[in-house]
Amino acid sequence: MKTVLYPGSFDPFTNGHLDLVVRAGLLFDRVIVAVAINSEKTPMFSLEERKQLIEESCRHLPHVQVVTFQGLLVDAIVRFDAQAVLRGLRAFSDFEYELQMALMNRSLRRQCETIFMMPTLKNSFVASRLVKEVAQLNGEFRPYVPEPVARAIEEKLRARSRKQSQNTEEPHHD
Ligand code: PNS
Repeated sequence: MKTVLYPGSFDPFTNGHLDLVVRAGLLFDRVIVAVAINSEKTPMFSLEERKQLIEESCRHLPHVQVVTFQGLLVDAIVRFDAQAVLRGLRAFSDFEYELQMALMNRSLRRQCETIFMMPTLKNSFVASRLVKEVAQLNGEFRPYVPEPVARAIEEKLRARSRKQSQNTEEPHHD
């Protein structure tokens, strides 16, 4: 049984991520999407929300399993019994960061191989950061994310604007 671990922040999971998960399923028996706790980022969705949204988005893909992990990726590989790490490469600009990570991971653990896959052209510019920015600025973000993620983003934005309007309300005097 060949397993690949697909780590990331997935805040949120996009059609680009989904594209890769589907492609990887043609090469591996099992794709484990591993949602990372990244202390340097302030996420829009909590770790559990991100995990749940990926599960909902991949419900039709029996080869996909979703987990969360903390700590080193090279340790997660062993824990989840995976043979390789999967990362997406969209553009040349991704390359330097990805090369550094892949080489560091291999230095930490000699057997840790990273496999890079390119998404389809129509998803090659899709990034979680841009989806969030477009959504927050009232742009059309729905074409870039799976339906469960689109609904969850809308709910977050509604909750945020409810909170803002509560905060800006005049104090009530009797
Ligand atoms: O989606 P992202 O934010 O680009 O994913 C980055 C991620 C989670 C894959 C990376 O930060 C990671 O592997 N974190 C786990 C901690 C670790 O192993 N750090 C050393 C990497 S060389």
